[in-house]
Amino acid sequence: MPSNAQIVISQFGGPEQLNILTTDIPQPQSGEVLVKVAYSGVNPIDVKTRAGIGWAAEHNKNNLPWTLGYDISGVVIKQGIGSKKFNLNDTVSGFIGFPLRGGGYSQYVCVPETELALVPDDISLKDAAAIPLAGQTAAQALEKAQIQSGETVLILAGAGGVGHIAVQIAAAAKTKVYATCSDENRSYLESLGATAIDYRKENSLKFLSNVDVLIDLIGGDIAIEAMDCLHPGSRLITVPTITSSMVCSHAAELGIIGMGMLVEPDTTQLEELLSLISAGMLKIEVEQCFAMDKVADAHVKVANGHARGKILLDMQV
Ligand SMILES: NC(=O)c1ccc[n+]([C@@H]2O[C@H](COP(=O)([O-])OP(=O)(O)OC[C@H]3O[C@@H](n4cnc5c(N)ncnc54)[C@H](OP(=O)(O)O)[C@@H]3O)[C@@H](O)[C@H]2O)c1
Repeated sequence: MPSNAQIVISQFGGPEQLNILTTDIPQPQSGEVLVKVAYSGVNPIDVKTRAGIGWAAEHNKNNLPWTLGYDISGVVIKQGIGSKKFNLNDTVSGFIGFPLRGGGYSQYVCVPETELALVPDDISLKDAAAIPLAGQTAAQALEKAQIQSGETVLILAGAGGVGHIAVQIAAAAKTKVYATCSDENRSYLESLGATAIDYRKENSLKFLSNVDVLIDLIGGDIAIEAMDCLHPGSRLITVPTITSSMVCSHAAELGIIGMGMLVEPDTTQLEELLSLISAGMLKIEVEQCFAMDKVADAHVKVANGHARGKILLDMQV
């Protein structure tokens, strides 16, 4: 009889705290489906929570041992009573259990069907696991900023998980997009429709002024420096929660409208993002996919902060 392998933390700490636990395959309850997970997305929030840092760690500190992970793709293999949204063998994608339940780093997981979207046949299971949290963060940040056609948008960390999606959505909305990245990612970001700015060059942002919207995916002093490019009355969405209040206070001093955010799972929005991928209007980048028993390496890769696009775990091996 097959069993379930899950990646759990029993205490906060380094990547060595990530352990594989073998359990029984769970049974779906009313309104849930059992998903055989193909891929799980690794997000910076997983790395910070494992280390005991940030908002989700604070909320989960009495919840250990805990199975990490919010992004999954996979196949529906069992339905709970009253579950009728999906058929058996449907391919699904989800931003699940955010922020307390988690559970995405599992080979089998029961999920309320309301948290899942059907994946069109022409989308790979890798793309389907890469899009939920990062895609919705990008879409919600740009919605919050109320970007308008013809405006200038600056995105800090344009080549990362959230950034590469934000660049494409902002460009499709007919804004003029500037995005910071290292020299290695310049041509990649230009291919997505941004003017790339190599942040490692001294005074790299000095040429840019009168920016209408800043999407800050870095936070702290780097966000504060970038505010020199904005005009009074411009909007700034600072996405990393840890430095959000400091960044917003500084923005207020300059007459910039600064807002933090916390992404909210929204299945309708996930369906829209999947439709954009299916239509070829959104391209998902997966830099690397690690076997689940190499999860510690995946966390080190994300913690280093230089992934292009997304990092995944292959839960089938
Ligand atoms: N509030 C929320 O609800 C929410 C939701 C999602 C994410 N977040 C937070 O948002 C941040 C971004 O998330 P993510 O998933 O996009 O991260 P990520 O994928 O790990 O970002 C990696 C990217 O950051 C770039 N980068 C690193 N240092 C940089 C710098 N100094 N300037 C410009 N780019 C730099 C790297 O580009 P190079 O390799 O070219 O250097 C790399 O492409 C994280 O702090 C995450 O925790 C918050």
